[in-house]
Amino acid sequence: MRLIDKLLLEGISSTYFSGEQRLPVLDNISLHVQAGEFVTVLGPSGSGKSTILKTAAGLLKPDRGRVLIGGHETTGTPQLVGYMPQQDLLFPWKTLKQNAALPLLAAKSGTGEAYARVEEMLPVFGLESFADYYPFQLSGGMRQRAALLRTMLIESNLMLLDEPFASLDALTRENMQDWLLDIWGRFKRSVLFVTHSIDEAIYLSDRIYVISERPGKNALEQDIELPRPRTKSILASRNFATYKQVFINALAS
Ligand SMILES: Nc1ncnc2c1ncn2[C@@H]1O[C@H](COP(=O)(O)OP(=O)(O)O)[C@@H](O)[C@H]1O
Ligand SMILES: [Mg+2]
Repeated sequence: MRLIDKLLLEGISSTYFSGEQRLPVLDNISLHVQAGEFVTVLGPSGSGKSTILKTAAGLLKPDRGRVLIGGHETTGTPQLVGYMPQQDLLFPWKTLKQNAALPLLAAKSGTGEAYARVEEMLPVFGLESFADYYPFQLSGGMRQRAALLRTMLIESNLMLLDEPFASLDALTRENMQDWLLDIWGRFKRSVLFVTHSIDEAIYLSDRIYVISERPGKNALEQDIELPRPRTKSILASRNFATYKQVFINALAS
């Protein structure tokens, strides 16, 4: 396991080109994630959140700015991090177990060893009875958990999660949030999480970066000082409501 003490994005500006069109997407974005922190990027749809994660993973090279992982510059160079894109991207022709084993097989583990490792992890993800199911036979929540399991098996303690629960119904989503916090607490990963849900961001995070509408700029950096472990009762607390108002204002301005 590579120990990553910090992810740092410094002054990231980014532009997309399609034909003649030039689309500025990120404007001088800076953020950091310390070891073991749960940090969230919160912003409206189209503000450049997915672009931030792709840049952090080294899949996109920004026009300006630097990405540092564990103190080393990695700008524009794909990194072995636990990146989970916005769609779950399970292969429909592979079973859950085969899908989950992919990062281990890519890292040259033997098939038997990879499957053994997946099987050991299945109960943690509540998937022990579904190893041989195909994605179409799983519920939305199970597919998300399978994609997260696969992301966790990447040998990196930095996870970049792009709206992993956006397509789920409200109840499943709330259960998945608690479950993610539990996994995060157990495995001590550093997480950079993306969402456009204020409640989800506050509930999960140690710190939140609000990004303005495109081109995304840093609009607010806010620590969340709610006790952990978190339970749904904090949603009704006065502190939660105070934070919520802060974010409503930041997103409206
Ligand atoms: N590969 C691309 N080429 C051109 N435009 C893109 C590309 N990817 C995203 N965009 C545009 O950039 C903007 C920001 O996209 P994205 O980072 O996906 O935002 P978010 O994740 O916050 O919804 C959007 O307007 C989107 O349409
Ligand atoms: Mg996105």
